[in-house]
Amino acid sequence: MDKPFKTAVDLQKLMFLGGLRNDIPKTPLNTEQLRLKAKDRLSPRAFDYLDGGAGMEKTMLSNTSAFGCWQIVPQMLKDVSLRDTSVELFGSKWVSPFFLCPIGVLELAHRQSDLAVARASAVTDTPLMISSQSSTPMEDIAAAMPETPKFFQLYWSKSDDLVASFVSRAESCGCSAIVVTLDTTILGWRLRDLQHAYLPFLYGMGLAQYIADPVFQRLMVAEPPPEAAKSKVNLHLLNSLWQMARRYPGSTWHNFRSRSPLIAIRKFIDIYMNPALQWSDLSKLRAMTNLPVILKGIQHPDDARKAIDYGLDGIVVSNHGGRQIDGAIGSLDALVLVKQAIGNQIPILFDSGVRTGSDAFKAIALGADAVGIGRPYAYGLAVGGTEGVQSVIEYFRAEFELTMALSGCHSIDDNKKVVLKNCR
Ligand SMILES: Cc1cc2nc3c(=O)[nH]c(=O)nc-3n(C[C@H](O)[C@H](O)[C@H](O)COP(=O)(O)O)c2cc1C
Repeated sequence: MDKPFKTAVDLQKLMFLGGLRNDIPKTPLNTEQLRLKAKDRLSPRAFDYLDGGAGMEKTMLSNTSAFGCWQIVPQMLKDVSLRDTSVELFGSKWVSPFFLCPIGVLELAHRQSDLAVARASAVTDTPLMISSQSSTPMEDIAAAMPETPKFFQLYWSKSDDLVASFVSRAESCGCSAIVVTLDTTILGWRLRDLQHAYLPFLYGMGLAQYIADPVFQRLMVAEPPPEAAKSKVNLHLLNSLWQMARRYPGSTWHNFRSRSPLIAIRKFIDIYMNPALQWSDLSKLRAMTNLPVILKGIQHPDDARKAIDYGLDGIVVSNHGGRQIDGAIGSLDALVLVKQAIGNQIPILFDSGVRTGSDAFKAIALGADAVGIGRPYAYGLAVGGTEGVQSVIEYFRAEFELTMALSGCHSIDDNKKVVLKNCR
């Protein structure tokens, strides 16, 4: 696979020279403009599912505004002609500290969903966390990015057999770690989705990992979901059933007439979340795999300490982009507390609110070893498929590299030593 790693200066030159031919970037560089362009392209309910958060979205605001509370104090005359943005994590070398966060139901943004993202991941050599709720089975996603590091993000369902099956499939398709998401054992109170009365899973979206899974297929038959109460049939309901049938493998007409898609969706709803999950369950995962296990959704320093006590291999400081709790601490503020609590004992990955390359620089200065791009790449996907995602990654990377250089840093190690000014 051709991996044209563009340095920031190469990319700048390419873009400015393009202007001579009136070749203007199709993907907006400003994340807010990109977001608005994605909004234009998508139906209101699809956009709101991708863009929205819990409650009045105050956590989302805290996530992004936390970056404004820390400022870079650059240092001069440090010969930054050579710059190395690479990091080594979980057994592989990454060209930059960025990874793509797990984002479910990407078919809402683009028909090619996860495959388009995987191709952008491969072309830029940027690690991807494959979501449990992706729109494409993990095997197909992995095949589209054979040489690029990938992780499997696990939602721990009520069936440990299903968890074991997901984990074993992740091992077989070359994932280098299992990332267990802890913050979504129940769905948050998401006003926009509730106002649209819209949950994409009910239309069969984002269920690819489950429908492709032999254990899930067996559970559908062996332990069928409870019967739903009969509801009034109207045209809208028939259309919804047709949408489900279209997404289920096999002939749409056969699926429409049979009950398989409905049973699959009801079974999924029945088991996909497990609010009973607790720390002691993690030992079961250890017994299932030799892969590193990373906990995603850590915000409290005590939980970070516990991750170490329980022998975990890494954490992702994340609040799910503010989609779960309204009025929570900004994730960058949580990062500072977590770093104070656990220092360098295990890798600390970070996401939630990263909107620019310079945000990533700040996150690394405050203790992150790697930084996740979330919604911005979903907007890029909506705007331009693979090309849109690739552009977002390249823009983030370029701005990050230039921020590093212009602040007097040659490497990620230098970035980690930078002291930011807290302007609160
Ligand atoms: C539409 C959407 C779907 C998501 N799906 C998942 C998921 O399936 N698994 C998961 O662990 N996190 C999921 N997340 C959370 C992201 O992995 C990440 O934590 C979050 O997007 C970071 O916040 P930001 O996008 O505001 O930067 C999702 C986020 C969004 C916006």
